Amino acid sequence: MCGIIGFAGKRDCVKVLLSGLEALEYRGYDSAGVAVLNGKILEVRKAIGRLTNLKSELKRDPVGGSIGIGHTRWATHGEPNAINSHPHTDAKNKVAVVHNGIIENYVELKTQLMEKGITFRSQTDTEVVAQLLGYYNTGDMLQTMQKVLPMLRGSFALGVVATDAPNTLYCVRSGNPLIIGKGDDANYIASDASALLTYTRDIYVPDDFEIAVITADNITFYDKNGQPTEKQTTHIDWSTSSAQKNGFDHFMLKEIFEQPRVIADTLNHYIDADTLTLRRDRMPFTRKQAVLLRQLTIVACGTAYHAGMMGKALIQQLAKVRVDTEIASEYRYSEMLNTENEVVIAVSQSGETADTVAAVRKARKNGQRVIALCNVIGSTIARETDAVLYTLAGPEIAVASTKAYSTQMLLFELIALDLANLRGELSDEDLKRHLTELLQIPAKMEQILAQKETVKAFAQSQCKCNDVFFIGRLMDYYSSLEAALKLKEISYLHSEAYAAGELKHGTIAMIDDATLVVAIATQESILEKTMSNVQEVRARGAKLLLLTNYPFEPPVGAELWNIPHTFDEFAPMLTIVYLQLFAYYMALQKGCDIDKPRNLAKSVTVE
Ligand code: F6R
Repeated sequence: MCGIIGFAGKRDCVKVLLSGLEALEYRGYDSAGVAVLNGKILEVRKAIGRLTNLKSELKRDPVGGSIGIGHTRWATHGEPNAINSHPHTDAKNKVAVVHNGIIENYVELKTQLMEKGITFRSQTDTEVVAQLLGYYNTGDMLQTMQKVLPMLRGSFALGVVATDAPNTLYCVRSGNPLIIGKGDDANYIASDASALLTYTRDIYVPDDFEIAVITADNITFYDKNGQPTEKQTTHIDWSTSSAQKNGFDHFMLKEIFEQPRVIADTLNHYIDADTLTLRRDRMPFTRKQAVLLRQLTIVACGTAYHAGMMGKALIQQLAKVRVDTEIASEYRYSEMLNTENEVVIAVSQSGETADTVAAVRKARKNGQRVIALCNVIGSTIARETDAVLYTLAGPEIAVASTKAYSTQMLLFELIALDLANLRGELSDEDLKRHLTELLQIPAKMEQILAQKETVKAFAQSQCKCNDVFFIGRLMDYYSSLEAALKLKEISYLHSEAYAAGELKHGTIAMIDDATLVVAIATQESILEKTMSNVQEVRARGAKLLLLTNYPFEPPVGAELWNIPHTFDEFAPMLTIVYLQLFAYYMALQKGCDIDKPRNLAKSVTVE
């Protein structure tokens, strides 16, 4: 949700700002802009729509300078147009601001400033920050920010430049992502590390309200009381190529194909393959904690929530612990009935999703231990929880989550197996058997990826299809939820997921010969039940795609995709690869903007 970038160096900044914005464009693509300081001259360029429009604008009307900030917008306050685009400036054009987040009290602040004679140009909440910094400007931007920040309510990550400090870039955050990259002869700010990988992998993660004063050679931090603070850098291992398409047409396809590798990386991180044991120091429960555990509550949004549903099934089934999985935006406002020895698990690729952050804070306020499953090092959720298990998926650029989802499921597999073993529900021998099988998953994923032409051809055969229903039971139902979300978000096709047994309670009325039903049947215990539902929809004329890892004679005319055999618990990690490819090829043939679907943005940092 909006990406910000900033540069303080000794060379021209525009190229760096644009390359950073390119990497951040997945966070929002309603408009883009830059503000550049050339000595005491502040120049701003903006363009509505994709970054390429800003590039054209900069060709037509170039700017240059060695200090600058840039922004790519996902509109919240004010329609996407050039005036509402960032950067925003104060009335005297001496201060420019880029912002990610929402200033909740902006109407009140705007009214106060208007009463003092300030004229506003845009409908955004962000302009209020620029105007406040301009109005209270003492000539020392650090001091001015220290005065203005306590007036703001809401969440923000801000990058600021001011003509009074022509060699300095300022930034601050509260609740929204922001990192500072330490380079050799230049320093940077960005919403996330993917924008900086070409320049540096050493980053600082500022605390809330900690202001960073950045020049080409120096980064100084001041805490919320104005005291200078010492900070350590964190090194990010992500490779430069992991944030590039590497010959794939889309990031989404590349990320689908990366799954065998990132699953293997995540497995190697948590499993000692020589002894076939879990690395104790990387698992979140001690034996005592596991034995005492009475209740787990998983909180997450979207795809991460679907991984959480899978987590519920796995942990209940293997470890016999009661689990509830809650949508974070509901959980944060619902009545909580605490159970003794309850632990909360927050799942988030970005670690910045506003609702999940709020759920984490609520659980911690209630005294619960919170464990994070997270992909981004140093993110808010990673920093605010009691323990973090990282998914080693690397940067996920496509808006539609793929490899983060499969690694989240993998972490739940590992937690479930570990808890089961620690609680005496799974012997050491059985644990080894399961881990041995898990280590085969990357190779089995490769077998599915090798079927991409089959998936593509089937998607092409469905080009007239308008309604897709995904059905399955238990874990297959949770795979259905994720498959339906993937399809609708990138292809805009109507798709829904149903627990197969629930169809006949209403939804079956919608099924006719124009409907495609995708049935998933990978769980032996309920296989025959799902197959009965398959026959029911077939009898109503629906077209049918069946995914299974069991030998089945599919109904006549049905498409069958075989999933390599594995333990039933692990089958969803394979099933989803087929269905991600299916969503991708359906969207491709419809000519959709796959990596940047309409109305969406990665990392939803607003409510
Ligand atoms: C869908 C998708 C979203 C995210 C959700 C949570 O493909 O990516 O549904 O899963 O916005 O995001 P994180 O995991 O960053 O908290």
